[in-house]
Amino acid sequence: AAVVEHTFRVGNVRVRRQCKNRVITAVNGQLPGPTIYAHEGDTVIVHVINESPYDMSIHWHGILQLLTAWADGPNMITQCPIRPGKSYTYKFNIIGQEGTLWWHAHVSSLRATVHGALIILPREGPKAYPFPQPYKEVPILLGEWWNANVVQVENKALATGLQPNKSDAFTINGRLGDLYRCSDKHTYKLDVEYGKTYLLRIINAAVNNQLFFKMAGHSFTVVAVDAGYTVPYPTDVLVLAPGQTVDALVVANAPPSRYYMAARAYISSPPPLQPFDDTTTTGIVRYKSAMPSSARPAMPLMPDYTDTPTAHQFYTSLTGLLKPGWPTVPLHVDEHMFVTFGLGTVPCRRDQPRCTQGALAASMNNVSFEFPTQTSLLEAHFKGVKGIYTRDFPDRPPLVFDFTNKNLSTNRALMFTSKGTKLKKVKYNATVEIVLQNTAIIGTENHPLHLHGFNFFVLAQGFGNFDWETAVQSYNLVHPQMRNTIAVPTGGWAVIRFVANNPGIWFMHCHLDVHLPWGLGMAFEVENGPTPDSTLPPPPPDFPQC
Ligand code: C2O
Repeated sequence: AAVVEHTFRVGNVRVRRQCKNRVITAVNGQLPGPTIYAHEGDTVIVHVINESPYDMSIHWHGILQLLTAWADGPNMITQCPIRPGKSYTYKFNIIGQEGTLWWHAHVSSLRATVHGALIILPREGPKAYPFPQPYKEVPILLGEWWNANVVQVENKALATGLQPNKSDAFTINGRLGDLYRCSDKHTYKLDVEYGKTYLLRIINAAVNNQLFFKMAGHSFTVVAVDAGYTVPYPTDVLVLAPGQTVDALVVANAPPSRYYMAARAYISSPPPLQPFDDTTTTGIVRYKSAMPSSARPAMPLMPDYTDTPTAHQFYTSLTGLLKPGWPTVPLHVDEHMFVTFGLGTVPCRRDQPRCTQGALAASMNNVSFEFPTQTSLLEAHFKGVKGIYTRDFPDRPPLVFDFTNKNLSTNRALMFTSKGTKLKKVKYNATVEIVLQNTAIIGTENHPLHLHGFNFFVLAQGFGNFDWETAVQSYNLVHPQMRNTIAVPTGGWAVIRFVANNPGIWFMHCHLDVHLPWGLGMAFEVENGPTPDSTLPPPPPDFPQC
């Protein structure tokens, strides 16, 4: 095992997009930021130097962080922010996971431009893949672009209690693509050789949108999601919620020419009529042997914006492929939780004059999560500081959930939420099963839920209200897919299971960035185990203080 070391200078840089100069916050001046390559078993050390005017923290999305909760990164959950001018060194080991993950800022909306790929190869290298070794590997980061300053966009939304302005474009590897105004030269290009196989490592780094991804003239074989192998799954469309990754093989066997690859927003209602389609970004696949041509590349036929059947088909067709010796589904459950979540409202504050109907809030089991302000949850947990959080996150919603309404959980009583910093305490090594029920009180929305610190098995997914008797028969306890982020369908549910084998504080939240400050989150407090190697060590010496 090796040590992989990087220095990340986070700072404001000038970039040009749509023929205008813009200022963004980025790592080492790059968008996307540097790709980290490591092997399973390696130690990763990243020195983050904050030269930006904003508070900073970096999260290593999907990394299990075994006994290194101090390096997980969510602002005010596991650390106080790295203040402007300060630095912090993240150090963690990569154990028992292979595939594509990523890193991103975990403070305000800065992850829009502060993110990059984190790629984990098998210990023995690519020859140990459970699929034919590709000719080349290509990271594809799908992103979302604002012409305005993203921190200001978020602050304005919070000040008014309303929806923030939506993004101006989607991107592939930081580039808008030639469908957007004034972006012809700003299109991602992938050069391929006829007959070769490529491994695309696709990351949905968009801030608030699920995405469909296709490539004209080509189809994919999915071999991994969220850094867990899958049984090879052939498909011509990929679907990714923010936070999720897909590793897909593609064979360059189309007639040598130029082809568009495209990512398009998957949303619950069609976008308002625009002068042009601002929900689709493109890149171009170029065969090296193609004749020069000025014709437009072929465009893939994209699913409709609201094509839930296609998304559901993709999400539910994947099954896990376990490496020998890697964990299997725990069959005994210690903690059963039923968690409803969705958008609701809290009373308007006096300083929100434009707010009349109640400010938008989001909640889990009717608790809208409040970030602590004095000290991070992890530090409070470690030092036993009182008054920062409570341990009363409810195991079920606070009222009789309407199981008889088979269609949608529209119970109005789920709309009004209380606020609090409530955690669920679990014993070391306990198996936790959570029924995640997406409610539909203010419209239906998809919520991609992300759990820090653990991979979970996805046992079942469905629409409408969860019904124990029928659902339990559909549990996949043999080879379920393993994930760190699950898109719980619009007005639907999912059942996940994980083993709490990592002491510390672990955030679970909606990975639509806009729902985070509204409170769609909670955290687990996992106790220490009985031995030194199941005990959280003290924080590193340069740990950021509030
Ligand atoms: Cu990728 Cu808590 O986030």
